[in-house]
Amino acid sequence: MPRSFIAGVGRYVPEQVLTNEDLKRYMDTSDEWIQERTGIRERHFADRTSETTTTMGVKAAQMALDRAGLTAQEIDFIVFATLSPDYYFPGCGVLVQRELKMREVGALDVRNQCSGFLYALSVADQFIKTGMYRNILVIGSEKHSFGLDMSTRGRNVSVIFGDGAGAVVLKPTEADGHGILSTHLHSDGESAELLAMFNPGTHANHWTRENPVADFDEAEIAGMFMSHEMIDKAQNFPFMDGQAVFKKAVAKFPEVINEALAANGLVASDIDMLIPHQANLRISQMIQKLMRLPDNKVYNNIQRYGNTTAASIPIALCEAWEEGKINSGNLVCLAAFGSGFTWASSLIRW
Ligand code: UT7
Repeated sequence: MPRSFIAGVGRYVPEQVLTNEDLKRYMDTSDEWIQERTGIRERHFADRTSETTTTMGVKAAQMALDRAGLTAQEIDFIVFATLSPDYYFPGCGVLVQRELKMREVGALDVRNQCSGFLYALSVADQFIKTGMYRNILVIGSEKHSFGLDMSTRGRNVSVIFGDGAGAVVLKPTEADGHGILSTHLHSDGESAELLAMFNPGTHANHWTRENPVADFDEAEIAGMFMSHEMIDKAQNFPFMDGQAVFKKAVAKFPEVINEALAANGLVASDIDMLIPHQANLRISQMIQKLMRLPDNKVYNNIQRYGNTTAASIPIALCEAWEEGKINSGNLVCLAAFGSGFTWASSLIRW
C-alpha cells in the first residue's frame, strides 16, 4: 500500500498588519495583557472586500502546487478546512475548483475548526493509501477578521485571531518509512458550547432552552436563525470559555502526541520538529515542557499571526520548511486541539 507524502507546501498571509497597539483603537486592551496571556504581538487582517477565505486559500494552494511541480489540472481531489467560509453554503472547495480552473474533481469541505487541517490531511491520506486518488490539494484558510466582535465586549476572543492560509499537496510514495506515518483524530461533543459560534444556525435553542420550540410563534421561530436581537446581543460572534479550553488543551495535546508516537514505536526524543496548532504561545510552551522538548524542536509563529485556526499548522509547517528547519528524514509531529472539542495529531517522516 502506498503512503502519502507532502510534495509541496504553500502559505499566504494578507498584507495588512494589526499590532496589539492598533487594537486599542477599537477596544479596551493592552499590548501587555495580550502578550502576557497569549504571546501574540500582531496579526494580519485580509483586505475587507478583495480577499476572502477562498482567495487566500487559492494563493497558498498555488505556491504548494508550484513547489510540488504540479499544475492545478493534475489535482484529483480538494479538501478545504475552514470555520470562516465565503458562503454558508456551498463550501470553499468548489470555489477553489473554479478559481484554479481545475477538472471536475471532488471538493470536500471540512469543519473541524482548529483541528480542521489535520482532519483534512487525514482524509486525503486515506484516499491516497487506498489508491483512489494520486494528487490531493489540502487547504486550511481563515478570514476571521470579518466575524469578530472588535468592541471591548468581545476582547477575550478577538485579540487572539488572525487571517491567513496554508496548503499542502499530497502525493503517493512507495519509499520505505517515508511520508505520513499515521494520523489520529478525536472528539468530545460534551463541550461543544464552550467554544462556538451559534448563529446563524438551525439549533432553535434546542440545546440550551428548557421550553420546546412549539411554544413560539412562526415569526419568533424564523428569528431563531438570524434576528436583529441576536445581532444586538452579539450572538453572531464566536463565544469562548477561554479557561476551560486552555485546561483541556494542555491535557489533550500531549495525550494525542503520545498516541501518535506509541502507534509508531517512537518516543518524544525522536521528534525533530513539533508543530502545534498556534492557539496560544502559553499552551505551546506547556506542551513543550510536558513533552520535554528543547526550543529548537518546537515551531511557533503565533507571535506574528495570532491564531489562524485551520490555517495555523500549514502556515507554520511552510515557514519552518522555508527556514530550513525541516529536512529530509526528519520526524515532524503535527498536533491540534480546539472547538468541538476536537483534537488530532500526525507523524510525518519528511
Ligand atoms: O484555537 C482555539 C482554542 N482556543 C484556545 O486555545 C484559547 C485558550 N484560552 C486562552 O488562551 C485564554 O483563556 C485567553 C487568552 C483567551 C484568556 O486568558 P485568561 O487568563 O483565561 O483571561 P480571562 O478570560 O479569565 O480574563 C481575565 C481578565 C478579565 O478581567 P477581570 O474579570 O479579571 O477584571 C477579562 O475581562 O482579563 C480581562 N480580559 C482582557 N483584558 C484586556 C479579557 N480579554 C482581555 C483583553 N485585554 N483582550
